[in-house]
Amino acid sequence: MKTRKLGRTDLNLSVIGLGTWAIGGGGWRYSWGPQDDRESIATILRALKMGVNWIDTAPVYGLGHSEEIVGKAVEGLRKKPIIATKCGLVWDKNREISNCLKEESIRSEVEASLKRLKVDVIDLYQIHWPMPDGDIEEAWRTIADLVDKGKIRYAGVSNFNVEQLERIQDIHPIASLQPPYSMLRREVEDELLVFCAENDIGIVAYSPMEKGLLAGKFSRERVQNLPKDDQRREETRFQEPELSANLELVEDLRRMAEKRGRTVAQLAIAWVLRRPEITAAIVGARHPYQIEETIAAGEWTLSGDNIAAVDVLLNKRRKTLNIG
Ligand SMILES: NC(=O)c1ccc[n+]([C@@H]2O[C@H](COP(=O)([O-])OP(=O)(O)OC[C@H]3O[C@@H](n4cnc5c(N)ncnc54)[C@H](OP(=O)(O)O)[C@@H]3O)[C@@H](O)[C@H]2O)c1
Repeated sequence: MKTRKLGRTDLNLSVIGLGTWAIGGGGWRYSWGPQDDRESIATILRALKMGVNWIDTAPVYGLGHSEEIVGKAVEGLRKKPIIATKCGLVWDKNREISNCLKEESIRSEVEASLKRLKVDVIDLYQIHWPMPDGDIEEAWRTIADLVDKGKIRYAGVSNFNVEQLERIQDIHPIASLQPPYSMLRREVEDELLVFCAENDIGIVAYSPMEKGLLAGKFSRERVQNLPKDDQRREETRFQEPELSANLELVEDLRRMAEKRGRTVAQLAIAWVLRRPEITAAIVGARHPYQIEETIAAGEWTLSGDNIAAVDVLLNKRRKTLNIG
């Protein structure tokens, strides 16, 4: 498995990182429906065995559950993976989720994450969302202090724009940005890729398969039959008029990938990794067979011809949807 250095850190990340949002399981506001914990642990161990060397999680995924499962899976491993987690989304006794970036809250979040993950130090600690915007400096100063105290190795952010990165970068070095990036969500190309490259900030891109839509296993029927608490039901990409255009795109991409002996999921991820500014793609999986398929994307370098062929298909989708 190829690795790339994360910004100015000494972390060499496998270009495929394992995302564990869905592994948080059912029964909370942003769940992906029910999930079998044994299957989750098997998925994590399979990913590590196949060469993934890092895992992305967050306290909010399953309200602590994803971190606990990651902690259980890696406990006792001789060589622990690099673990990235986050802060800034908290919940109350009624399981209501809210944003908080206050110092005391982050200090208590980090202790809870260390406990659930069963580690002494968190390799990469990220502000999950820059909300409330006015508190990002307070949060970053707190995280810088937690780095000094040895609780965190490196500090990163997620879902920040350039202006927000500029506001915090003099307080403490930014190791990484975690933005969304897929064939269907390319906003990061406007400014952030260049800014991060110029400032030596690593980029770990989330939802490279657009929450599974580009993995090639969706149909209209499957979308209709998603569990009631699968948050993908609320996404416009899984609803008409976008859904038909997206499913058509997937069929076009599938034909293209198959001609090259690949799958559409691998094409979606390799496409994200074509950009040198991207350190790694965070690829979600909830079953071992899923990561067994997607991991091969890490070895596939798209040629200029392949990239141009994808562009043609993406333009066709834009025309269908009348996007300028
Ligand atoms: N910082 C943030 O705000 C933020 C936001 C989103 C994500 N993330 C991180 O990024 C990670 C990855 O993003 P993501 O989970 O949203 O999306 P993704 O990687 O685009 O899609 C993952 C989902 O696709 C399906 N899938 C995966 N491999 C497959 C295969 N081989 N065949 C068929 N289906 C397959 C699985 O769901 P089904 O089997 O249920 O279809 C899986 O959960 C998350 O887990 C999380 O760690 C962070």
